[in-house]
Amino acid sequence: MQEITLTQPDDWHLHVRDGDVLHTVVPHTAAQFGRAIIMPNLKPPVTTAAQALGYKARILAAVPKGVNFEPLMTLYLTDNLPADEIRRAKDAGVVALKLYPAGATTNSDAGVTDLRKTYQTLEAMQREGILLLVHGEVTSPDIDLFDREAVFIDNQLIPLRKDFPELKIVFEHITTKEAAQYVQGADAYTGATITAHHLLYNRNAIFTGGIRPHYYCLPVLKRETHRLALVQAATSGSRKFFLGTDSAPHPAHLKEHASGCAGCYTAFSAMELYAQAFDAADALDKLEGFASFHGADFYGLPRNQGTITLRREAWAVPDSFALGEARLKPLCADETLQWRMT
Ligand code: DOR
Ligand code: ZN
Repeated sequence: MQEITLTQPDDWHLHVRDGDVLHTVVPHTAAQFGRAIIMPNLKPPVTTAAQALGYKARILAAVPKGVNFEPLMTLYLTDNLPADEIRRAKDAGVVALKLYPAGATTNSDAGVTDLRKTYQTLEAMQREGILLLVHGEVTSPDIDLFDREAVFIDNQLIPLRKDFPELKIVFEHITTKEAAQYVQGADAYTGATITAHHLLYNRNAIFTGGIRPHYYCLPVLKRETHRLALVQAATSGSRKFFLGTDSAPHPAHLKEHASGCAGCYTAFSAMELYAQAFDAADALDKLEGFASFHGADFYGLPRNQGTITLRREAWAVPDSFALGEARLKPLCADETLQWRMT
């Protein structure tokens, strides 16, 4: 296959930050995707409907003229987000709340310390049809970093699923065989996003030829057996799995640092990276469902109307982009990719 045309895809998990950097990163996403779920982990986090509307307006102001792109807004679940904010969120068009266990990742200090504290809010979400997006890792320092997702399933997700049977839950950026199997076996209220980098790389990528901070994200890349399970899930045709880049811009100097930030910047060449992963699995025919249909169907939103085309063509990813005074290095900077969006 030399060329593939897909219904315009959506990104169901994206970080764009705020302020001037929006003008660097939003055009990259808007060039590829019709819509994106915008993560609320700003400083301070987006916790009210009014804040979400203000943030949405700032994102829209960074969309290039003539480009159609819709940011889908989320709120950040905290221990004390009042249940009555959910009604206002629904009216403001907020589609989901994000659960970060406190301390799990970038800007998660305000996250949830005990799920029980959020039960009234979760009840309101279940009632209003607002989704819960889950960063599925326990945070206890006693649990090995590579086991935190699997432990989260048993300790948190399974009880949560039982207590809120009709709450739609997206297990975000899954990284393990255990998560893929859990979602595959769960009911229709449970889905999962998978990033391009977790389909393309295993944990060796972080250490090949020296420590490579641009391959460091959370949840961290896992062993090859897990990568293979994710590829299997993404290319299976199952409607439970859909595209979420988790593209997470950080200034290069804060990643190339003694305690480097977690996050891979993939927005600039997202569909090219996914095409490479699906092509390697000989499953390009499954890319449209994963990228353009399953997520919209799960969220209960209409599928997009337009199309995009990817052509088999070698090209080099740019070395970096200006990010205010700093630089932003994309994943695969200076490397050659085999697919290009026309
Ligand atoms: O690698 C990550 N970066 N994982 C997350 O969960 C958050 C994200 C970010 O905001 O930088
Ligand atoms: Zn994320």
